Amino acid sequence: MKILGIDTSCDDTAVAVTEGRRVLSNELFSQIEIHGEWGGVVPNLAKRAHEEHFDSVYASALTKAGVTMDEIDAIAVTYGPGLAIALGVGIKKAIELSKKYDKKLIAVNHMAGHVYSCFAQNADGQPDFPIEFPYVVVLVSGGHTEMHLMKDHHTFTRIGTTHDDAAGEALDKGARIILDEAVYPGGPVIEKMALEGNPDFIRFPRPMERSKTLDFSYSGLKTSLLYKVRSMTEEERIKHQNDLAASYQAAVFDSLLYKVKAAMKQYKVNKICVGGGVAVNKTLRKKFELLAESQGGYVLVPSDRFLNGDNGAMIGVAGYFQALNEDFVHDVDTLERNARAAL
Ligand code: KG4
Ligand code: ZN
Repeated sequence: MKILGIDTSCDDTAVAVTEGRRVLSNELFSQIEIHGEWGGVVPNLAKRAHEEHFDSVYASALTKAGVTMDEIDAIAVTYGPGLAIALGVGIKKAIELSKKYDKKLIAVNHMAGHVYSCFAQNADGQPDFPIEFPYVVVLVSGGHTEMHLMKDHHTFTRIGTTHDDAAGEALDKGARIILDEAVYPGGPVIEKMALEGNPDFIRFPRPMERSKTLDFSYSGLKTSLLYKVRSMTEEERIKHQNDLAASYQAAVFDSLLYKVKAAMKQYKVNKICVGGGVAVNKTLRKKFELLAESQGGYVLVPSDRFLNGDNGAMIGVAGYFQALNEDFVHDVDTLERNARAAL
């Protein structure tokens, strides 16, 4: 079953063609440069850029996959969560295409997409591994930090979430504090600085470490960083920016790992699946690998860097498993965006 996967939930205009778990093409127009100078995503600019770039991204997704719309079986589109006016662009295009080519429509949750990005394979079916439930699913992006128990396809039970900022947001804000300038996204900047820094420079608090829940919290940690930076002179800050980044990143990741380990014990699950933009981070991946191995299991992360951030392929793969369940939109005109959709 070939699926056209569409995601316009935030700052990437993304269209892909997938077949089962295989990704035949995965095209993207990234708006990073448009939003970078503002230090965050500007909704109106995102909407306009999606409108301007959708048609060319869509055309190249078909061309790269070597297919025409006649060969596409269904269209999968993100309905939420995300930026409302950005989501609206992809949904409108998906409805138009569904009517024009008489294709079934599948409404996919963006966070489910991030989970399914871990199951995606390249066009040759690599990496070839079975999907073995249950997983502890960890979603770490700019807007979300949540943990789910995944017992079967599209069967999620939320077991932990953040009380305030998301892990990616904590990194984004942290980068701004450490560098004292608008940077976006901050996660990759912190990762790069951290590689050259000393993670033991300061021991930032590990929020929620003592709480019995599986929830997260990052705003206190960000405040600790802010106070630390304020206590330093400009010269000291610049001299130690790599150390600050390494120490801060370690605190963000430790707080995450601590709860994932607790969840694995509580639910007796030794397999982890990590999705979302923050999962690109190599230091974080290594920590997850060590944790899973220590429990006799393994960790799944997206196998290709284009599957880590927002992309259309993850929507196509997630949509495929919905299609197997006959989970289609019955009346395409009723499909609405849901900016705060939960998994
Ligand atoms: O999933 P995503 O692309 O967009 C959504 O938020 O849905 O995630 C973006 C987040 C940003 O907060 C960004 O700073 C973070 O992922 N990120 C990273 C890295 N690359 C992106 N965080 C840590 N290390 C990275 N290399
Ligand atoms: Zn995302």
